[in-house]
Amino acid sequence: MKLTWFGHSCVLLDGSRKVLVDPFIPGGSVAAGPDVVAVTHGHADHMGDAASYGVPVVAINEVAKYLRTKGVDAEAMNIGGTIEVKGVRFTMTPALHSAWIEEAGIGCNGGCAAGFVIRMDDKAVYHAGDTALFSDMSLIGELYHPDVALLPIGGRFTMGPEEAMVAARMIGAPLVIPIHYNTWPAIEQDADGFRRTIERTTDCRVCVLAPGGSITL
Ligand code: NI
Ligand code: MN
Repeated sequence: MKLTWFGHSCVLLDGSRKVLVDPFIPGGSVAAGPDVVAVTHGHADHMGDAASYGVPVVAINEVAKYLRTKGVDAEAMNIGGTIEVKGVRFTMTPALHSAWIEEAGIGCNGGCAAGFVIRMDDKAVYHAGDTALFSDMSLIGELYHPDVALLPIGGRFTMGPEEAMVAARMIGAPLVIPIHYNTWPAIEQDADGFRRTIERTTDCRVCVLAPGGSITL
């Protein structure tokens, strides 16, 4: 399976199916031709242009209902559940974050923020979404043994590098990829410093990708 990070939280998993997660990239659209899209929560910098692909979108109930009003074939689920779409398994994990859907006017309730464990081709990828550190991340490691953990490190709106290091230890994935940083000045971080510290203090390997960069799992 090939994993491509387009920047911010947007990731394409390219295996027997193409799974696009959180299709927002600053100042552009993601031309990836996915088979299925997954959205961690309703914030604009995650939902992005999810409604434009003409493929099923996996999301929490409230976001799924919102997307259906836009004509999307949405697969509704909720935290703790697992569904299979086109042979890909999506398990929705908790995230500590807000979830209002921002639209013109007051917007609407997006339920809860979430993350995903996505299983395809005998690989498990944990995309944490936007979240603070929480100790139940250790259960995600214990239950799903992710091969890679995509963790936000930007700070301010999510955990920062210090918390993400503890998250990486708790999840125990052999590979960590930092996301949700350097998109804007407010979430600027030194990803290479994060990599050096984590590789010095844990058994995890960290892969810092440039936007558009890929790694084969
Ligand atoms: Ni958010
Ligand atoms: Mn965000």
